[in-house]
Amino acid sequence: MVAMTEAIESAPAGTTEFTVVGNSPAHHDFQDKVQGTLRYGADWKLPGMLYGKVVRSLQPCARITAIDTSAARELPGVVAVLTASDVPFNKVVDNASGGLGELTVAQPVLAEDRVRYTGEPVALIAATEPEIAAAAVDLVDVSYADLPGIFDPEEALEPEAPLVHEAGNVLVNWRIGRGDAAAAMAAADVVITGEYRSQHVEHAYLEPESGVGWSDNGVLTLRVSTQVIEHASQIARILDVSENKVRIIASYMGGGFGGKEDMTVEPYLALLAWHTQRPVRMVWDRQESILASTKRHPFVMRYRTGAKADGTLLAQEIDIIGDAGAYPCLSARVLFAGAALAAGPYRVPNITTRSRAVFTNNVPASAFRGFGAMQVVFGYESQMDKLAERLGLTPTEIRDRNQVSKGDTIPTGESLHTAVELTATRDLALARLGPRSTATGPGCRVGRGFASGMQPYGRTIWFRDHASVWLTLQTDGSLLIRSGVTDLGAGQAASLCQIASEVLGAPLEEISVYIGDTALNPPAGGTFATRQLYMSGNAVLSGARELRDSLAAVAAEELGVPPDTLVWRDGMVRTADSSGQNRGIRLAELAQMCQRRGVSTSNLHTWRARGGEFDPEAGQGDSFPDYTYGTHAAEVEVDTETGVVRVLKYAASHDVGQQINPVRVQGQIQGGVMQGLGYALMEDHALIDGQPVSTLFANYLIPTTMDMPDIEVDVVESGEGCGPLNARGIGEPPVGPCAAAIASAIKDAIGVRPNRLPITPERVLELIDEQAAGRVAKDGDHE
Ligand code: MOS
Repeated sequence: MVAMTEAIESAPAGTTEFTVVGNSPAHHDFQDKVQGTLRYGADWKLPGMLYGKVVRSLQPCARITAIDTSAARELPGVVAVLTASDVPFNKVVDNASGGLGELTVAQPVLAEDRVRYTGEPVALIAATEPEIAAAAVDLVDVSYADLPGIFDPEEALEPEAPLVHEAGNVLVNWRIGRGDAAAAMAAADVVITGEYRSQHVEHAYLEPESGVGWSDNGVLTLRVSTQVIEHASQIARILDVSENKVRIIASYMGGGFGGKEDMTVEPYLALLAWHTQRPVRMVWDRQESILASTKRHPFVMRYRTGAKADGTLLAQEIDIIGDAGAYPCLSARVLFAGAALAAGPYRVPNITTRSRAVFTNNVPASAFRGFGAMQVVFGYESQMDKLAERLGLTPTEIRDRNQVSKGDTIPTGESLHTAVELTATRDLALARLGPRSTATGPGCRVGRGFASGMQPYGRTIWFRDHASVWLTLQTDGSLLIRSGVTDLGAGQAASLCQIASEVLGAPLEEISVYIGDTALNPPAGGTFATRQLYMSGNAVLSGARELRDSLAAVAAEELGVPPDTLVWRDGMVRTADSSGQNRGIRLAELAQMCQRRGVSTSNLHTWRARGGEFDPEAGQGDSFPDYTYGTHAAEVEVDTETGVVRVLKYAASHDVGQQINPVRVQGQIQGGVMQGLGYALMEDHALIDGQPVSTLFANYLIPTTMDMPDIEVDVVESGEGCGPLNARGIGEPPVGPCAAAIASAIKDAIGVRPNRLPITPERVLELIDEQAAGRVAKDGDHE
C-alpha cells in the first residue's frame, strides 16, 4: 500500500486523551548513552581500516602556487595522498541553496588554485595508522602566494574591497517589506535607533565530526555523524558514480545543532575509501573541528523603530549584515530567516528589511540552532525595551500594545493561522522568578529582564517539503518503523515510536525504529529547521492511521462491529462497548488474519507539507509553515568591580502545542537555554585576520554546570501546532530569547544597555566606564 496525504491549512482537531503520547518513556538511546554502549560515528572499526586526515590551509586568502606531495607519499604506511586533480567532480555544492536570487558560487571539495579561509581542505591522506596520517599531513608542502583578504563584512561591502569570489561579495540581498516605512517613520512621535552585534559561535557538540567509509559490492557506504543522509546524491556526483552506488548511514549523534547539516567528513571519507578500495575512518579532533567547522553567523543589525506616543508601532527600518565567511553553505537561507523574523512577534504596518549575506575570508558560517531567526531576537527585543523606556511604559505594556495575535499579518504578508500564546508564556516565566534577590555584596547589583521570541519550525515552504515512513505490523504483533530520519540526540526516533504506538496500540517495547539509512529507509529529509517532529511525526501519524484503517476493516468484520468503534491499545484491538463484554483480537492474531486474506500489514506513506511561493522582488510571499513562541525571564547579579555576570534565576516558557514526550521537551528547553546563555555571556569564536584566536575548550569558553542556574521550564499547550497531534517543534526555539533577556537584566542592574555579544566581564566594565564618563543617555543607550 502506497499513499499520500496533504497537509491541511488549519491544524486538525486532535483528541486530548492519549495513553502513550504525553508520557516520557525511556527509549533505547537513553539507556545506551548512559551505559556508554551507543556506537557513535567514531566507534566503528573495520578490518584493514585506514585512517584519513585532511590537509588544511593555514592561510586565509592565498593563491596556491604548488603542492608537493612526494615526501608524504614516500612515508611508509601512507596509502594515498589526494589533491584536487584526484576529485572527479570537485564541488561540495554545485547549486548553492535554493535559487531565490543568490549568487551561484561553488565550493571545491579540495582547493584548486586558491584558498579562501584558514582551515580550507587542500589535500587528503590515508595511512595505516593515525600517527602516520598525521605525520604525512605535515609533509605535504603547499606553496602559497598571499592575496589581500577581507575579514569584516562591512568592509567587504566597500566598492574597492578585495573579492572573495569573482561573482562579488554579496551572496544574497533579501528585501522584505510592506507599507511605506519611510513615510510612517517621518510621521512617528518617537523614533528609536539601535545597532546590535553578534559574534561567531562554535557548535561545540560533544561528538566531533566522524565516521567510517567502505566500499562493498560496488557500493560506497559511509556511516557518519550527520544530520542529512540525503547528501548521498552529492557524494555520487563528487565520485562521478550513479546515486545507487552511494549509501549513507547516520549513526545516533552526540549533537549536531546545525553543524552537521552541511557535509563534514563525508566527501573526504568517500574519496579516500573509493580511491583505496579499503575501509577508512576519519575523526576530526577538537582543534580541527573548532578551526574548520562552520560557525554561527555574526550579525550586524541596525534598527530604526517608529511609534506613536502611546507606544503603538508604526514603522521599522531594519538592516542586517551577516558574515557568510568564504563559501555560501546555508547563508542565503539563514539570512532569509533573519529578514523574515527581524521585527519579531510585533505588529508593524510599515516595514522595510534588508538582509545581506556577505562573503569574507573568515571560516564559513552556516546553520546553527536558531538559524538567523535567533540573532534578531537581541535586536527586536532591545528595541522594544528602549521604546518602552522612552515613552515611560513598562516592558510588559509596550509588548501588550504591539504583540501579534492569531490572524495578524506579519511582514511577509502572511497571516498567522495558529494560536499565539505569548502572554501566557510571559506570565509563567515572570511568575517563576519569584521574589527579587538581594545583592550578595557591596558593588554587586541585581537586575531582571525578559524577552519573547518566535522561531519558525519546518523548512521555508517554497521547498515543498515532504517526509516518508514505512510501517509494518509483523505477524507476531511487533511493529517496524522505517524512516530516513537522523537522530541528533533530541529523541527524533523515539517520538516516532510514541506516535505510532498511540495510533496502533502496539506497546513501545514491541516497536523497533530503523533510521538514517539511504538504502533501507524511505527519505525523511534531514534533521534541521526544527522540522522532524513536524514532518516525520506527521508522516508517522497519518501513515499509522492509514495502516490502522486497513487493519480495522478486517478486525471489524471479525468482531462484528463498525471499524470506527474499535479501540487500539495494549497490543490489542477491542470493541468499545461499555457492558464489560468487550471482545478483542491481539495484534499478532490480526496480522495473521490479514495475511491469510491478502491484506497488507505494511504501509509506505509520504506526508507533504503545505507549499507556497515567495517573490524576492516584491519581498512578499510565503515563508514558514508555523512558529513556536516563548518568553524567557532572567535575574542576574552584576559585580561592578569585576564585570562578572552571574545568572541567579532563569525561567523559560514555550507553547509547544502538545507535548509528545515532556522530558524531551524539557531537555530541549534546558539545553537551548544553556547554549543561549553561552552565546549571551561567554562564547566567542574570535578571529584576527581570519585566524582563530582559540581552537580548544581551554580558551573557547562554553558554560559548564557551574555557570548554570536552575532553569525553570513551564510548558504551554495551546493544542494548535501544525505537527502531529497539534504539536509544535521545540528544537531551535529555546535558544532564541536568552541573549535579549540577559541583556535586559544587565541593563536593569547597571543602567547601561549592552548592544554587543557576548557580554563578557570586560564589556560589562566598559559599559560601566562609559556610564561613569557620562556617555550614556537616560534610557541606557550609549551610541
Ligand atoms: Mo538547523 S540550525 O536548521 O540544523
